[in-house]
Amino acid sequence: MTYDLLIKGGTIATDQDIFDADIGVRDGRIAAIGRLDAEAGDIIDASGKYVLPGGIDSHVHISQPSGEGIVMADDFESGTRSALFGGNTTIMPFCLQQRGQSIRAAIEWYHGLAAGNCYTDVSFHLIISDPTAQVLGQELPAAVCDGYTSFKVFMTYDDLRLNDAELLATFDVAREFGATVMVHCENEDAIKYLIAKHEAAGNVTPAAHATTRPVAVEREATHRAMSLAEITGIPIVIVHVSNGATIEEITRARQRGLTVTAETCPQYLMLTAADLDAANWEGAKYVCSPPPRDAAEQAACWKGIQSGTFDLFSSDHCPFRYDSPDGKLNPKGARNFRHIPNGIPGVETRLPILFSEGVGKNRIDLKRFVALSATNHARTYGLYPQKGTIQVGSDADLAIWDPDHTRTIHHRDLHDGSDYTPYEGLEITGWPVSVILRGKVMMRNGALQTGKGEGRYLYRK
Ligand code: URP
Ligand code: ZN
Ligand code: ZN
Repeated sequence: MTYDLLIKGGTIATDQDIFDADIGVRDGRIAAIGRLDAEAGDIIDASGKYVLPGGIDSHVHISQPSGEGIVMADDFESGTRSALFGGNTTIMPFCLQQRGQSIRAAIEWYHGLAAGNCYTDVSFHLIISDPTAQVLGQELPAAVCDGYTSFKVFMTYDDLRLNDAELLATFDVAREFGATVMVHCENEDAIKYLIAKHEAAGNVTPAAHATTRPVAVEREATHRAMSLAEITGIPIVIVHVSNGATIEEITRARQRGLTVTAETCPQYLMLTAADLDAANWEGAKYVCSPPPRDAAEQAACWKGIQSGTFDLFSSDHCPFRYDSPDGKLNPKGARNFRHIPNGIPGVETRLPILFSEGVGKNRIDLKRFVALSATNHARTYGLYPQKGTIQVGSDADLAIWDPDHTRTIHHRDLHDGSDYTPYEGLEITGWPVSVILRGKVMMRNGALQTGKGEGRYLYRK
């Protein structure tokens, strides 16, 4: 048998090129690309379809400890299954170091949750919430050397935020050991000030989540994070950018010579603050940070996607159940927006939304879709060219898309552990129909082909 799998007749797209060719897969890797007439263990007819690199979602929260009484709706099984059905073959969830916890203990615990449960490959970012001398001097450098080469730090949330001195010290470790730093940029003191004012006025519905986190909160923190990166001499990743003023700050920092990687997410293209104002506390379904803005900011984010300002399009999948005492409508969250857990589901809908709204509506071409959905994630986080492209020698991680298939998003058709989607009722044209992970057909014509456990952990250089 020449190939284990032959994908015939499709249109292949990478971030550089679009061409018609077959793909031969052997031992989990791409063995040949061209007009291939050879024997194969399995053949997929991809005529009329696009064959794209499997999506890489580099911003996903799964089973992350989220405060007393709050439970994330996805574990590794449901989260990676949902990711797979959304055309992804790799996701990058966050391994949270809780305050007082060693990095090693956090990593071991998180591996225990993932092992044997994944439908996609996974690789962890760390979240550093307690940068003690021991953590910065020994544990974090050791973790980076062990292949945990990226971490996120927060400028908001009481139990996660770092002050400027802590950010500087943490950035310094990243510089010394060559790690990649992702920053959640929102000014916590400004948010606290606004929350106090809102509460004093009795303004505590989900809509207040947006008005207590206005654009200036994000813009200022982004400017500060980039300035601290400039001072310490590190490149920086600014995650989940929601608006034009923040994009302008990023553009200015780049003009000064700073290396900034910028990410945006579907919620900043498709949702607005008006969604948070939905009747009967349904606005809680859309509470995420930074909050969705308005039509003008959506347009600014689309422009950033088209112009190349944004390198990454991620889901920031952070799923909680809506109608549940451990989710959005927990006893306190059902009375005051301040206690609604932040985050929305989206790992399965990320790429169909970008395909339908982006490629389908001629806002971006297919090469840009591939860059935003896979290649740039692999390059940014040290997985390229094993992942994120279609070339001989790369892992055979492939998603076959039917560009003409139209279906409306309903949560009942999705595969995550939440009980809603923020995109209920959105009509999408262009869906992944088959997904291949390291040569194994995981999903075929919309049907799951394997049990859990095919996904592997990816250590990075
Ligand atoms: O609201 C959000 N984005 N929750 C997830 C955690 C984070 O900040 O990325
Ligand atoms: Zn964040
Ligand atoms: Zn996030």
